[in-house]
Amino acid sequence: MDQNELKKAVAAAAAQHVKERLHEKFVLGVGTGSTANAFIECLAAFKHDIHCTVASSEGTKARLQALGIPVMDLNSVDEVSVYVDGADETNAQLQLIKGGGGALTREKIIAAVAREFVCIADQSKYVSVLGTFPLPVEVIPMARSHVARAIVMLGGDPVYREGFVTDNGNHILDIHHMHIVNPVALETQLNQITGVVTNGLFAVRPADLLILGTSEGIRSIKA
Ligand code: 5RP
Repeated sequence: MDQNELKKAVAAAAAQHVKERLHEKFVLGVGTGSTANAFIECLAAFKHDIHCTVASSEGTKARLQALGIPVMDLNSVDEVSVYVDGADETNAQLQLIKGGGGALTREKIIAAVAREFVCIADQSKYVSVLGTFPLPVEVIPMARSHVARAIVMLGGDPVYREGFVTDNGNHILDIHHMHIVNPVALETQLNQITGVVTNGLFAVRPADLLILGTSEGIRSIKA
């Protein structure tokens, strides 16, 4: 299977995982990116059984609404039953780098509210040490240079994602050349820089379940 087929396979497995758990008060969190889009396509088959979703980006919200699936504001729901999203990298502890698509802040908020966070990824995303994929940091626009200088002090190489504005009206710095041996410590450190909205390390709140597409089949890995 090529990468695209693996994405479709993990999306289908996640859709089945959700389908088996649906009930009247079930709230589904839906992520952003090409793997999450494959998951949304799988939802079409049982869309009438899905009463409520929350979306991690405006793009995902539009895709769900185009299928006729109800999307609610996160403030209107008490909790998210299951949140399904892709990742740019994952390690064996299910700590992630996310935000390649720039939706990291809303993704992290939904992950924080979710009872179960299911990550779906093809095998190319599975790494021993996080950091080969540039780590995204969402910043308040006026703080961009200040945050970039602070990242350099931490040993990173921040690159401004030019021409990109997040759904929250902010900018992204992508940190290159970080060998992230302690993801929890770095996530916490980055969040303490004034002007940082959030960063794409999902280590304080990792995924609970990884559905990984490999050439040998689908692996389910629990934290
Ligand atoms: C978007 C994300 C995505 O989950 C991540 O970039 C993976 O995307 P894809 O499934 O297209 O490889 O974090 O902000």
